[in-house]
Amino acid sequence: VRKMSELNLAGQRVLIRQDLNVPIKDGKVTSDARIRASLPTIRTALEQNARIMLMSHLGRPTEGEPNDEESLAPVANHLGELLGMTVRLERDYLEQDPEVKEGEVVLLENVRFNKGEKKDDEALAKKYASLCDVYVMDAFGTAHRAQASTHGVARFAPDACAGPLLSSELDALEKALANPKRPMVAIVGGSKVSTKLDVLNALSDKCDQLIVGGGIANTFIAAAGYNVGKSLYEADLVEQAKALMEKVNVPLPIDVVVATEFSDKAEAVTRNVDDVRDDEMILDVGPKTAETYAEALREAGTILWNGPVGVFEIDQFSGGTKAMAKAIADSDGFSIAGGGDTLAAIDKYDVTDDISYISTGGGAFLEYVEGKTLPAVSALRDAAK
Ligand code: 3PG
Repeated sequence: VRKMSELNLAGQRVLIRQDLNVPIKDGKVTSDARIRASLPTIRTALEQNARIMLMSHLGRPTEGEPNDEESLAPVANHLGELLGMTVRLERDYLEQDPEVKEGEVVLLENVRFNKGEKKDDEALAKKYASLCDVYVMDAFGTAHRAQASTHGVARFAPDACAGPLLSSELDALEKALANPKRPMVAIVGGSKVSTKLDVLNALSDKCDQLIVGGGIANTFIAAAGYNVGKSLYEADLVEQAKALMEKVNVPLPIDVVVATEFSDKAEAVTRNVDDVRDDEMILDVGPKTAETYAEALREAGTILWNGPVGVFEIDQFSGGTKAMAKAIADSDGFSIAGGGDTLAAIDKYDVTDDISYISTGGGAFLEYVEGKTLPAVSALRDAAK
């Protein structure tokens, strides 16, 4: 794969695909982590006096039906504020080639408004390619999608390369997974084993300890023969959980925090894992468990974190996730974290600066961990041939 740093961008029309798919409320960006992550790439192109066109998707609109709610207008404003310059939103770039001066940045309106984007339509990909001299793929968060702006365009652009954000995401993941410093500890939380089964299987081949959390842990607790009361768990995946526990060390909770209702008013009770009542649900790990997990994390050479271990949005059930965040922050090992909920927890416990690498990817992060080839990366490989 060619890197942006290998190319001369001076005066060139540079089309950068970024993942600016960020949460927006009432016309304002509510979390700008992905926008901030895109800034170094834009600044590098600016320093070279390139003519910069940024492109991204936002949400999942119906193609051919542009709407205000899923317009990138608030992102253009926010980006302009962060860069200290005007970032013009270009709406009709398919009809008319945008006029972009050297050292100027424009943002092309939501690519998913365009017919053919999602099915990687060749004519649309060629159209995008015709807008530029250099195509830069920098949207790690969308690298698992084979769409016209992430995949097809790389085939037709005069030059195609990986942007610095995409490169550093891939480097960090490789560092964590290809030849990890031991011991390697992974934490996989979230509500369902079914959505993370491929991730769990892939990690069971790589890590020394696999800590599971949330609803996923409940299925493992059930697999170990304990009563999980009315906890969320998947009875049909108990056998899979058992198979995983035979392959890799999955430390089970010693104690858990339970309640009889899922609510911020619920009364939280800590119990031994073998003492959960029929009318109770498990909503977090208990303090003894958190301390055992934290110790493993502090001693780890490599940590991969995806998903909280409890319902950390509710105070009474947040102790476990908070302890994980702090332990990862305290660890001297190489730590990488990814996924929307995980990033929210990192924010909440203010450990951003203490984690070695925070990925901007959700689905893309998981697919990489699963060992899948990301279509946007293979498109760049083909383009380099
Ligand atoms: C994400 O938020 O995971 C990416 O932006 C991809 O979005 P998508 O799942 O709608 O393709």
